[in-house]
Amino acid sequence: MVDVILGLQWGDEGKGKIVDFFAKDYDVVARFQGGPNAGHTLYVNDKKVVLHQIPSGVFHQGIINLIGNGVVLDPITLKKECDTVASFGVDLKKNLFIAERTHLIIPTHRALDKAAELAKGNEKIGSTLKGIGPTYMDKTGRNGLRVGDLLDKDFKSHYNKLKAKHQQLLDNYNFQEDIADWENDFFEAVEFLKQLNIVNGEYFIDEKIKEGKRILAEGAQGTMLDVDFGTFPFVTSSNTTTAGVCSGLGVAPQHIRDVIGITKAYCTRVGSGPFPTELEDETGEELRKLGSEFGATTGRPRRCGWIDLVALNFACMINGVTKIVMTKADVLDTFKELQVCTDYNIDGKNTRQMPLQMGRTKPVPVYKSFPGWTYIGVNVHYISNGPGREQIIEVK
Ligand code: IMO
Ligand code: MG
Repeated sequence: MVDVILGLQWGDEGKGKIVDFFAKDYDVVARFQGGPNAGHTLYVNDKKVVLHQIPSGVFHQGIINLIGNGVVLDPITLKKECDTVASFGVDLKKNLFIAERTHLIIPTHRALDKAAELAKGNEKIGSTLKGIGPTYMDKTGRNGLRVGDLLDKDFKSHYNKLKAKHQQLLDNYNFQEDIADWENDFFEAVEFLKQLNIVNGEYFIDEKIKEGKRILAEGAQGTMLDVDFGTFPFVTSSNTTTAGVCSGLGVAPQHIRDVIGITKAYCTRVGSGPFPTELEDETGEELRKLGSEFGATTGRPRRCGWIDLVALNFACMINGVTKIVMTKADVLDTFKELQVCTDYNIDGKNTRQMPLQMGRTKPVPVYKSFPGWTYIGVNVHYISNGPGREQIIEVK
C-alpha cells in the first residue's frame, strides 16, 4: 500500500514537516521525482535541517528511505547531506537506499542550466540552477547516466562522452565556466555514493508491498510546477503529481491509496511565471515577513499572495487528493480580513477552469472575503500552525 504526500501549489507548501509528522505510521519513505531543487525543512531536536535529496523520513529509526528512479541525483549534494544527517547519529547504511535507474546530475548539467537561463534573458524560468532541466533532457533524450552505471568499469569513458556533448552545447551558448573544482568534488562524491545501498528500486518496492509494508511517497515541488499540468514553460522538468509516483518508483496505480495534498493557507511562488493572486503591495510584504517566505534552497524572497481555489481545485482533480493538509495557518492570525480567489475572470467572463497559458490570458482573480479563519472547508483534514512537530491539529 502506497500513500502519497505532495504539494498542491508552486512548491514550499511544508512537505518536509508533514512527511516527518506522518513518517512514524510508515515503513518506507520514498522520493519519486525532482532533485536538489527541492528544499524540505524539518526540525530535529529543535535544530533546523534542510533536505534536498534524502527523503524526509530519514530521522526516524527503523524507517527505510528510498531515492527512486524518477529522481535526478547530484552526488555532491547527496554526500554533503549524508554528512549532515550522519552527524545526528543516523546510520545511512541501514536506512538509505538508492535506485540504480536514478539519473545522475553531472557538473556540465549544472553549467548548461546556467547557460540556458542566461540565454533566455527576460524570459528566464528562475531555475534553482541545480542542473534539473538538462538532466531530465538527457533522460528523455536517451543520453543520461544512471546510478547503476557508476559500478561499470567504463563509467569514466561514458562520462567523458556525455561531457563532450555538453561542451558542444556550452560552446553554442558561448558560455564558459571552469568546472574543474566541481569535477573533483563529483568524482570524490561518486566514490562515496558507490559505498551506499544501491538497489533495484522497483523490485525493492514490490517486495515491501508484498510484505504488507506501508510506503509513503514524498513529492517535491508542487502541482503547478508539473511539466505537463503546471504553468508551462515556467515549471520544473518532472511530473510532480500522483502519476509521477508510478513512473518514479515503479509502482502500479492500484497500490496507491491516500493522496495527501498540502497547501499553504495562502500562496507563494519562487522564480518567474504566472501567479494570478500575487500581492505586490504591503499585504504581500506582510505575508513574506510573517511567513518567513525565503527559499530554502536558494534564499530568494518568495512571491506571496492570497489562496487560489481555482488552482487548488485543479490540483485536487489532477492528483486525486483524498485528504488536504493546510499549513502556515498561524501566519494569517493577525489578518482581520482574508481574501480567497474563487474564480478567474478572463476577458470579462468568470471561469473555474485553469487556462492553457496564463501568461497570455492574464486571468484576473475574483475574490470572496472572509473574516479570519472561517473559510476552511470540510475537506481540510489537518491544519499546521507552526514549524514544530507538535504544531498540527486534526480537524474532526
Ligand atoms: P520544494 O520541493 C519551490 C521552481 C524554481 C523555478 C522552477 C524551475 O522545496 O517545494 P528548476 O530548478 O526545477 O529548474 O526550477 O521551479 N522550483 C521550486 N519552487 N519549491 C521547490 O521545491 C522548487 N523546485 C523548483 O524556483 O521557478
Ligand atoms: Mg522548498
